[in-house]
Amino acid sequence: MAAKISKKRAIVVGCGGMGRAWMKNLQDNPRAELIGVVDVRNDAAQSAAKDFGLAPETAFTSVAAAIKALKPDFVCDITIPAAHCPTTVAALKLGVPVLGEKPLANSMAEARLMVAAAAKSGATSMISQSRRYEVHHAAIREGIRKGVIGDITTLNCDFYIGAHFSRVGHLDFRDTMESPLILDMSIHHFDLARYFFAADPVSVYCQEFNPKGSWYQGDVAASAIFEMDNGAIFTYRGSWCADGRHTSWHGDWRIIGQRGTITYENDQAPKGERCKKGAKPGFCTEQEPVVLPDTKINGSGIAGSLNEFLDHLIKGKPVQCETKDNIKSLAMVFAAMKSARSGKREKVTW
Ligand SMILES: NC(=O)c1ccc[n+]([C@@H]2O[C@H](COP(=O)([O-])OP(=O)(O)OC[C@H]3O[C@@H](n4cnc5c(N)ncnc54)[C@H](O)[C@@H]3O)[C@@H](O)[C@H]2O)c1
Repeated sequence: MAAKISKKRAIVVGCGGMGRAWMKNLQDNPRAELIGVVDVRNDAAQSAAKDFGLAPETAFTSVAAAIKALKPDFVCDITIPAAHCPTTVAALKLGVPVLGEKPLANSMAEARLMVAAAAKSGATSMISQSRRYEVHHAAIREGIRKGVIGDITTLNCDFYIGAHFSRVGHLDFRDTMESPLILDMSIHHFDLARYFFAADPVSVYCQEFNPKGSWYQGDVAASAIFEMDNGAIFTYRGSWCADGRHTSWHGDWRIIGQRGTITYENDQAPKGERCKKGAKPGFCTEQEPVVLPDTKINGSGIAGSLNEFLDHLIKGKPVQCETKDNIKSLAMVFAAMKSARSGKREKVTW
């Protein structure tokens, strides 16, 4: 007889677009169960409960009240960035593990509070950096780890999408943020850079701007140059106000090592070339294709991060993006914003 799966019971805080994606994610996972929802807007909580087949009394407007009533095994914090710190800290204070959406927090001070709250409570606090859970990304990371193009010297990422959030029904929180691109989107790319080549940031020079005709209030475009702790340079260019010829949401990447290059564009399988061993010297060295390792992942995007968190809760396996590690990716965001305001190169500290 097959062993009975014990499901981990979860509540979702934040019943917006992404909160609903998480409710579905939980209901689709055989090891998880959605048992309640929370939103500061009672109507949003009630309508999510109804749409996901929950009783009205499992919808709350306070995370603490929901935890006390429903006693979940974990909380998914899918609120807006400004609410991540109070929501996650409230759950951790009650000893409940939290799997939260990026960005970790709205400031470094809040992020440090969250890291301290997790350490004090002993409950795990993990950020779902969903773009880590893609088969092509795992292959790039593994290829780099195995040295298929030698030591990495240069990493470039371009991200260009014309994203009209406010035109899909309501005024969106990103419309009024000071740095919507860097804080709400580039965090994915900055974190991917750390994921791809297992290096941490040292310093950054960044210029943010709001392109002419932008439909955002804050600066929604940026160019940034990071130095990483292995000496490599990571150059980032991005805009959410760029209609036409979009890049992938993952960004388009060029990764250069001492022996060759990997490019990854439009979500297509990454391609690589490297100098052929024993090639005759010439203006350009003869190249051979790079074969990246075959990698397996357990679910892509938020399905992958949920599986990693469940493996942790059920089997005690470590997670990649505990807040105490993810704070380094957030530090890239805030150092870039600081540099954009000071006009100077800034240290990345956390
Ligand atoms: N991983 C991804 O690809 C991805 C994609 C989209 C959004 N996100 C992230 O998900 C989060 C939510 O984004 P969204 O697009 O769903 O936003 P949204 O504005 O659609 O929804 C946020 C919800 O949180 C609620 N809320 C605000 N403060 C709250 C509080 N203190 N307590 C309880 N509820 C509160 C709001 O009322 C709203 O219903 C953000 O952090 C965003 O960056 C991630």
